[in-house]
Amino acid sequence: MEYSSEQFRPDVALERFIEKMTVLRERTCEKIPYTTKDGVYDDNSTLAKEKSFGIGWWTNGFWAGMMWLLYHETGDSRYAEIARFSGEQLDVCFDNFYTLDHDVGFIYQPTAVADYRLTGSADGRRRGLHAATILAGRLNPAGGLIRAWNDWGDGRDTTGWAIIDCMMNLNLLYWASEELKDPRFRQVAMLHADTAMSAFVRPDGSVNHIVSFDPETGELLTSLGGQGYGEGSSWTRGQAWGLYGFALSFAHTKKQAYLDTAKRIAHYFISNIPEDGRIPVDFRAPSEPYYEDATAAAIASCGLLEIAEHVPQLEAAMYRTAAVKLLKTLDAQDCDYDPRTDGILRNCTAAYHDAVHEFHIVYGDYFYLEALLKLKGSDFKMW
Ligand code: GLY
Repeated sequence: MEYSSEQFRPDVALERFIEKMTVLRERTCEKIPYTTKDGVYDDNSTLAKEKSFGIGWWTNGFWAGMMWLLYHETGDSRYAEIARFSGEQLDVCFDNFYTLDHDVGFIYQPTAVADYRLTGSADGRRRGLHAATILAGRLNPAGGLIRAWNDWGDGRDTTGWAIIDCMMNLNLLYWASEELKDPRFRQVAMLHADTAMSAFVRPDGSVNHIVSFDPETGELLTSLGGQGYGEGSSWTRGQAWGLYGFALSFAHTKKQAYLDTAKRIAHYFISNIPEDGRIPVDFRAPSEPYYEDATAAAIASCGLLEIAEHVPQLEAAMYRTAAVKLLKTLDAQDCDYDPRTDGILRNCTAAYHDAVHEFHIVYGDYFYLEALLKLKGSDFKMW
């Protein structure tokens, strides 16, 4: 197909994405990928972690999530088959229990809940409610916050830690409340969202990644740099989780303060987009060494498009324009549409201080696809 990187045609980008996935899905149908090595997907589908992060890894819902999005978009049942197989493999996490933390939202919403929403699967509903119950059980009422991680066994005490990423996991709770007609789950989600508004979002719209609270009293102790450059810096994927997460909390609750917060983060994000449209891993890191994080751009695009759905038309144009600028850059600079290699979005970075940067990450593909579909006006809501 004729295509010039000078122009951005979201419909063509989506077509190229789907063309590649039609080939890639068959090579990957028994894997749960996180990243690629020499152009080949790794596989997280076992509990053992010798060669991968293992079945409990927080990103393990995104491959199936992509398959469900494509099933909804194309109607091709092969996508549903692969997605369901992938989701079923995650049952071992419920049996094991210890691998599960606040990221059950990321894991079970694009797998179990998507299956239920798209096919009415009773197993999908059961798995989704099971995961939501685990998430709600992580509430610390003293601070009104959801504990992020379990103990890592490395001496760091994470008992009172909450992280901005959790804003995305709250959507599982909103879904469970709707599903059961039981406000408890939504109330837990809103307690956390209210705490996040005051403790994570800074006056200028930038956000902290990790905030440590006293788990006995709920007192805010300190913020930590987390996956960004350092304390007080501005990890871009964290900005994007906050931006999209607060917009979605508004969509579920209609609490105006959540939309205002999403807009504040969005304005900060938009004003920091560099001239070339590529998003660094941290807006406040030194200019050298430079590391890009294409996932932050993809997630922020989804958030900006979500905000655009909830504001008056004249205002919406600004958010859509910013999302399109980000997506255009991803399409032209970061996408590998060659069906001979695995993965699509390159130049993704998990954390600033990691040894490796700018590689393929599966949730980059997922959110890029979700953003293209949102731009097209898809009626399926994953979150
Ligand atoms: N939720 C973890 C991350 O964004 O890397």
